Parts: sequence; C-alpha cells; structure tokens
Amino acid sequence: MKIFLDTANIEHIRHGVRMGVVAGVTTNPTILSREGKVDYQKLVKEICSMVPGPVSTEVLSQDGEGMVAEARDMAKWAENIVIKIPATLEGLEATSVLSGENIKVNFTLCFTLNQAVLGAAAGAAFISPFVGRLDDIGEDGMEVVADIVEYLDSSESRTQVIAASIRHPQHCLMAARIGAHIATVPYEVLLAMMKHPLTDSGIERFRDDWRRVMAREGLL
Ligand code: E4P
Repeated sequence: MKIFLDTANIEHIRHGVRMGVVAGVTTNPTILSREGKVDYQKLVKEICSMVPGPVSTEVLSQDGEGMVAEARDMAKWAENIVIKIPATLEGLEATSVLSGENIKVNFTLCFTLNQAVLGAAAGAAFISPFVGRLDDIGEDGMEVVADIVEYLDSSESRTQVIAASIRHPQHCLMAARIGAHIATVPYEVLLAMMKHPLTDSGIERFRDDWRRVMAREGLL
C-alpha cells in the first residue's frame, strides 16, 4: 500500500518525503485553507515540485462545465497534478471529459460502491472513499473501501483506490489488510503509525545494558 500525505503543510510534506515513504499528496479546499492567507496556486505548485508522485487538488465549481474549465487550467500547473472531482452526476460527466483528455482525475467524496463503479467507468485514475466520514455517521467506512478494492481488482481496472478521511493508525492497518492501493494520511497519523512503546523501551533497555556492562569493564 502506498502512503500519500493528506496535507498542504510544506514542513510536514518535507519531513514525509525525507522519510522516503510519501508517494503522493492529497489536498482539498479545507486542507489548503488551513495554510492561511497564501497564494494557493503557488503552494500547490511547490508541493508538486517536492513530491515524487501525484498531487491532488480539488475544483470548486459544481457544474460540469465549470469543473472541466477549472481542471484544464489546474492541469497546466505541474505534470504530477491530479484533479479532484466530486462524485456527483456533473462530476461524472466532467471526469469522463477530462479522462478523455488524459487529465488524471481523483473521484472524491465517494461513499458507495455504486459511485465508485461509475467513477471508474468514466475513467477516473483514483477513487477516494472517505472512511472516517462514513464511520462518523455510524456506517462502516472500511467495508466500502473493501468492496471497491475487490470490485476494481476483479474487473482488472486500472483505477486505484485511495482510502481517504483516515483518522487513526487503525484505519491504515485495515486499509493495508484489505489491499487498498493507497492510504492518504494526515501527518499526525503518519507519525503515529511508526510509534510503539516497546520500540522505545527496547532502545532504552539496549542502551542501559550496554552502558552497564561497559562501565563494569571500565570501558566507559
Ligand atoms: C482526502 O482526499 C480527503 O480530502 C480527506 O482525507 C478528507 O478527510 P476528512 O474527512 O478528515 O476531512
């Protein structure tokens, strides 16, 4: 499973890239707005130049024509840009037009297998089921991801699933188990994925044992 970072924070992206584990980035209007008063186009271009993979940015229009026009413009920003289009009827039409022009689409705000089936049929490069938001309303977000992964794999589709709206490491664990192609994770979740108290206490113990023996032998 590839790891994308779900953020527009340059420092966090820089750290993730340095760790060698970040294969892409996803943003949305909320995520971009968290970076405050900045030139969003400049910010997205900077992210694109830092990341060795796809960077998703989202259209704001709700009508098909507007989405296509916005997407065509954004597609010129960088080679690795991917356009997030919402899973609506208008979005479906836009996805189909853009895919026909070889503009990569991330079919976002996806909550059902049916939406994913149609998004993939329209040529979306990625489908983003929102796990956390489904869990929030008492549904099983990961079950939707599992259904979509199974469907796409069995139909030998080239569309990839991005498990999105990831809230905690347990979501990543489940996404990996069910074979999601990608999980897009907030920076805090990425850090938490590596954390284990036994690793920390193990390091402490090795260091203490080493020091004790070295001191006893007079080597310290
Ligand atoms: C990613 O593509 C989504 O925009 C993001 O994961 C949404 O996460 P949220 O539900 O925590 O806002």
